[in-house]
Amino acid sequence: MKVLAAAARRRRAGGVVWDLAAGQPSTAAPEPVRRAAHAALDGHILGYTEAPGIEPLRRAIAGHYRNRYEMDVDVDNVVVTTGSSGGFLLAFLAAFDVGSRIGLARPGYPAYRNILHALGCEVVDLPCGPGTRYQPTVGMVENLGLDGLIVASPANPTGTMLEPGELDALASWCAGQGVRLVSDEIYHGITYAGRTSSSWQTDRSGFVVNSFSKYFSMTGWRIGWLLVPDDLIDVVDALVGNLAICPPAPAQYAAVAAFDGYAECDAHVHRYAHNRGLLLNGLRELGIDRLAPADGAFYVYADIGHLTDDSAEFAARLLAQAGVAAAPGVDFDVVDGHRYIRFSFAGSTRTIEGALVALEQFLRP
Ligand SMILES: Cc1ncc(COP(=O)(O)O)c(C=O)c1O
Repeated sequence: MKVLAAAARRRRAGGVVWDLAAGQPSTAAPEPVRRAAHAALDGHILGYTEAPGIEPLRRAIAGHYRNRYEMDVDVDNVVVTTGSSGGFLLAFLAAFDVGSRIGLARPGYPAYRNILHALGCEVVDLPCGPGTRYQPTVGMVENLGLDGLIVASPANPTGTMLEPGELDALASWCAGQGVRLVSDEIYHGITYAGRTSSSWQTDRSGFVVNSFSKYFSMTGWRIGWLLVPDDLIDVVDALVGNLAICPPAPAQYAAVAAFDGYAECDAHVHRYAHNRGLLLNGLRELGIDRLAPADGAFYVYADIGHLTDDSAEFAARLLAQAGVAAAPGVDFDVVDGHRYIRFSFAGSTRTIEGALVALEQFLRP
């Protein structure tokens, strides 16, 4: 966030910024979504909706699972949320109590840890490195006395994925042990290698968290969804009613049309794939070659231990001297993140090209 604020200041002062920091698409929502939003403004009162979301959207989300996963999902298990961020709060509140022990891969998306802390849960660090593609394994989570486990595949900041067999093993283990699994599947649809699967293809006692933010290019619309296990549907319904009343109505009506926008979204993924190739090659040529396999999402997580042991200072200097904005590893890993940096390739191809030239000048002045 500090890097983004500094980048904004630099832009306002007329400086060039090559933005490899933003964790979001650089494109608008798909055209059918924008059309549906206009129609919703003109055709609906847009008052409160049902707490778990409007029926057409929940049905469309269930249809998405039929189309893309060949999986039948009951509409009753689908709860529309204010982005996956809203989904985390609901899932954590419904599933965990003060003092619950929740396993989390480190490095990982910082909001999991911060929300869990705010709720009085105990975060159990699962240090993950290149040996396991920065992902947890069943061996790592056994005998820790966990009440819950959060996984993300593809993950932020690494982009690495759990192979379907690995996710299957973790989901089965959690079901067998009574450990509540929360599977963050927000980057599904944005993959370059391997296959994604949903934890619900193995077991439905955990939560699936998903969102329109990334693949559907709709971050600011604040709309996502949960697949909620049967025993917690009423709890989640009561939580939504009290915490938010309902997710935003305009975004709900618009999001129904997102599933008519697959072609546009897939075109973005093609651009990400091209950017990914440019960035991976460019970084390797600059000697930054200890890179997490960027299986999916739009991030390259790079070990820059040969350049710095203070990634926050490095990121600040990189922006100040070269105009390249990137996210320091300490944002994702408080222990080892001081020697990592995350580059996002969600921007335009021109941004990646410009950033690589600037990075070369910075590293080899
Ligand atoms: C892994 C992961 N999960 C969840 C989110 C939150 O997304 P949103 O609340 O927009 O759905 C992000 C955002 O960057 C993320 O990287």
